[in-house]
Amino acid sequence: MGLLVTGGRGFIGSHFVWAAAREGRRVVVLDDHSGGAPAPMPHGVLAILGDIGDERLVSSLIREHRLTALVHFAGKIQVGESVQRPELYFDVNVSRSLRLLESARRGGLEQIVFSSTAAVYGHPDRIPIGEDAPRAPVNPYGATKLAFEFALEAAGRAHGLRWVAPRYFNAAGASPDGHLREAHEPETHLIPLILDAALGRRPPLRVYGADYPTPDGSCIRDYIHVCDLADAHLAALRRLEAGDSLGPINLGLGRGYSVLEVLAAAKELVGMEVPYDIGPRRPGDPPVLVADPARAQVELGFNPCRSELRTILEDTLRSRR
Ligand code: UFG
Repeated sequence: MGLLVTGGRGFIGSHFVWAAAREGRRVVVLDDHSGGAPAPMPHGVLAILGDIGDERLVSSLIREHRLTALVHFAGKIQVGESVQRPELYFDVNVSRSLRLLESARRGGLEQIVFSSTAAVYGHPDRIPIGEDAPRAPVNPYGATKLAFEFALEAAGRAHGLRWVAPRYFNAAGASPDGHLREAHEPETHLIPLILDAALGRRPPLRVYGADYPTPDGSCIRDYIHVCDLADAHLAALRRLEAGDSLGPINLGLGRGYSVLEVLAAAKELVGMEVPYDIGPRRPGDPPVLVADPARAQVELGFNPCRSELRTILEDTLRSRR
């Protein structure tokens, strides 16, 4: 089976592409290189520079390479930017994504894995968060991801399309051999920022708020290793190939670490203080986001093996050195 992977040269997408290639899958990547430095691709993977909304391009790729499933990672992912420039987020994450979906459907492609996010839950009132928690995004990023989930749900009913939408909690880490890494431009995610600060490559980390209603006052997140995410996508694809359609599935570990705990773990790893200061809260940050991974365990056999915080930090450090 041939896969069309959009955003395959980005952080999560590239880890998936390498994992899929290792399984011997045929992969065609479509990526516009807008997310930062494009990741290297494995031998034998065709990587096309282009727009997911280009219907002629997508149709011809599906036809010429006899592709049967779509793994859709491409998208705008910064919460803060989505508040400043909502039109950009609706354009890429909804309008262009809908054109991609339509091209895929017309090309006879019936299986879709779509990168969704914990941001669809907004500020949840119960932890851990199950898939049935109210969907109440509090920023355009979460709203656009949820909108596309609705589009998939409707397309599933109308056209029999089978889909899975992994809702990522906090993706982190890097390939253990260090050849793939998080390279967002700009980088806004906690773990690369902490390790770059430890390496003296960036200013001290600014902790966004230490007055939250959490044990140490800083926000708690559920960090998942990008290689475990990649494996979960392969498991999702196998379910689609077996004829199932799963809808949304949380991908997180079910346990969280505070920002100050991540800093302390980084200090232990590098063997010296990581410079940081405490700043004001970042608007829109919920105090705690921790997944209930039960559905992923049942449906995908989800059994993450690299998501210990120490392993995530070690792999990230290696990739940044
Ligand atoms: N943080 C800091 N300082 C920084 C960067 C982050 O204190 O310089 C804190 C944040 O306030 C947050 C935690 O570290 O409490 C994690 O922040 P990230 O920016 O790494 O990740 P988010 O939790 O904000 O974002 C993740 C995903 C988004 C998704 C969101 C759902 O990356 O795609 O969860 O709320 F939308």
